[in-house]
Amino acid sequence: MLSVADVEVTYPNGVMALLPTNATFRRGGFFVLLGTSGAGKSTLLRCLNGLVRPTRGDVLSEDRGSIFSSRSALRAHRRRTGMVFQQHHLIGRLTVLQNVLMGRLCEYGTLRSMLPLPRADRLLALEALDRVGLADRALHRADQLSGGQQQRVGIARAMAQRPAIMLADEPVASLDPETSLKVLGDLHRICREDGITAIVSLHQVDLARRFADHIMGLSLGNIVFQGGPEQLSTSALDKIYKTASPSLSEAAE
Ligand SMILES: Nc1ncnc2c1ncn2[C@@H]1O[C@H](COP(=O)(O)OP(=O)(O)O)[C@@H](O)[C@H]1O
Ligand SMILES: [Mg+2]
Repeated sequence: MLSVADVEVTYPNGVMALLPTNATFRRGGFFVLLGTSGAGKSTLLRCLNGLVRPTRGDVLSEDRGSIFSSRSALRAHRRRTGMVFQQHHLIGRLTVLQNVLMGRLCEYGTLRSMLPLPRADRLLALEALDRVGLADRALHRADQLSGGQQQRVGIARAMAQRPAIMLADEPVASLDPETSLKVLGDLHRICREDGITAIVSLHQVDLARRFADHIMGLSLGNIVFQGGPEQLSTSALDKIYKTASPSLSEAAE
């Protein structure tokens, strides 16, 4: 279980990105964050892996307490937390396998990571690629893959880390609808199979409805909706999208 307790984030420029926020992410759940641009989704995700330190409040992980309690606690938390981004951040001139192996580097110190990784790590990386259907592309250059395939490599790289928690910030925002459905389907299936807690921000309400166990709707730094997909009514969508911009509410429906 992962939770945020009275977390508030004010950036140094004075922007209040998150107002005091409480939320619990139970183990193995697939959580979707919805909200317009600027609602605070990325800020919440960055708090959850300690990239942003809350101005107030705390992030608690399992029974280990605050992820910020010490540098080693933060490192341990990051090791068990995989990240997938909208822009997959692959290194184009490296092979697919080399990119996935980056997911294993977190296990080693800086010096050790300059040497070739053990065979066990390469096997783990290949297995992660196999699970996203790309084992046969292992030796291709990453920049030769399609957008959807590259995003799958991003998922495999996060999986190679063997995470307990997976954070994905708009992982399918730059893909077409059909590819989005497939890529998110892969992420959902793998997290479910491995009992990984997933927290995913999305723009597409239909994908949230399809995959989420639990949806959190953010607006202007507040969680304004929490519930299952079946509870995401038109009035709930209004709450999430209308306060910020009426036109986006229509787009979402
Ligand atoms: N590093 C930052 N410094 C200052 N303000 C930021 C920073 N990151 C985000 N913000 C602001 O915080 C608010 C929430 O942003 P963000 O968490 O990125 O929302 P979302 O991911 O829902 O679009 C916005 O007003 C945004 O401009
Ligand atoms: Mg964002």
